[in-house]
Parts: sequence; structure tokens; C-alpha cells
Amino acid sequence: MTVSHTSNTEHRGGGKSGKRGLDVRSGKTNSQSSLLSHRETLHTQHSNMGDQKMRHELVNGLNGNLLGITELIRKSLEATKFAYCPYSKFRVGAALLTHDGTIFTGCNVENACFNLGICAERTAISKAVSEGYRDFKAIAIASDLCEHFISPCGGCRQFMREFGANWDVYLTKPDGSFVEMTVEELLPASFGPDDLRMKKVNIRNEF
Ligand code: THU
Repeated sequence: MTVSHTSNTEHRGGGKSGKRGLDVRSGKTNSQSSLLSHRETLHTQHSNMGDQKMRHELVNGLNGNLLGITELIRKSLEATKFAYCPYSKFRVGAALLTHDGTIFTGCNVENACFNLGICAERTAISKAVSEGYRDFKAIAIASDLCEHFISPCGGCRQFMREFGANWDVYLTKPDGSFVEMTVEELLPASFGPDDLRMKKVNIRNEF
């Protein structure tokens, strides 16, 4: 295995306090930047390890595991090939890692009735949920943007949040570099399933 880091930052464990002056979307260094309140990472990696090993590492979670992250990102990039996007011509792919190491991929699927299109992230999550998975470790998102890390739309952030706020989202570029954020960081002060169960004032027949 050859691992080459092209990192000007650190991987996992840097904590949320570190603002290291990297423009989160472009990857450009900016010492004045106060954009970052999360971990950010730029890495490239080459691996010749077998799938078995990769699966094992994925099962154990991605924390600090560059190999597992790279594999997930590779699958998200692969998924862009299936994007059905004749209207936007903007290909997006996603790869979702579940608690047992199973990976579901997804792409955006557009429609002549424009508002019916579905994003790659939602495709992947819906595929997983429809096969009995609700416990997710991470999702990688890929696009063809070469100078910006693809960032999930607001609807997809909410869709992810339905399944917890404390799991990882990898915003990537086609060269495999990535920014790592949590769902919570992407969607702070969010509304989730628990909110529906919270105490409400008494109302009768007002629905
Ligand atoms: N898109 C995604 O699939 N995911 C996102 O997070 C951002 C946008 C898709 C939707 C649409 O098919 C195309 O990108 C342009 O918006």
C-alpha cells in the first residue's frame, strides 16, 4: 500500500476548534479564513489491498481510516457515471456506508418535470432504507467540479439528519481530495424525529 498525503491540514482528531485557513469549498489556503469550524482534510491515496481487507476496515468505521475513506470516495465517484442528468448536465454520485459495512451507491435522477428530480444522496439513502438499513456511518459525495468540493443541498442535509446528526459526510473533488464534516456541522440546530415527540401546548380539533 502506498499512501501519499497531500495534506496541508490534519486528518481526524484535529477537533472542531482548529481553524486552519482552508477555504472549505475550493481547498485554497486563506489565512484570514474563518469559514471552518470543522475538520478538513486533503488527501490522495493509492492502494492495492484486497476488497476483503477494505471491507473489514469499513466495518470497523472510518475514524482515522484513510483506506476506508478512499474506498468510499472511489465508489461515490464511480456512481457519478450513472447520473441521469440531461437537464442540468451536473453529475453527482454518492456512496453510503452502513453500520455493518454495506455500501449503497446513488446518483441524481432528473425528470422532464424538473421538480421531481432526486439527488444522489437521497437515492443512496432511499436504497439503503428500503433494504432495511437505518444506521449509517458515513456518506461520500462526488461530482465533476474540479475546483470545489461538492456540497450537499439543504434538502439532502435534512434527509441525512433524519438518520442521526452524528455521522460523517465527505465532500469530495474528482481527484479524491475531500473535506470531512458531520451532519450536525452541515445542519446545525436541526429539526429531527425527536422534535415531533416533544411537549406541546394543548390544542383540540385545530388541525
Ligand atoms: N444534486 C445532487 O444530486 N446532490 C446535491 O447535493 C446537489 C445537487 C443534483 C440535483 C440535480 O440533478 C443536479 O445536481 C443539479 O442541481
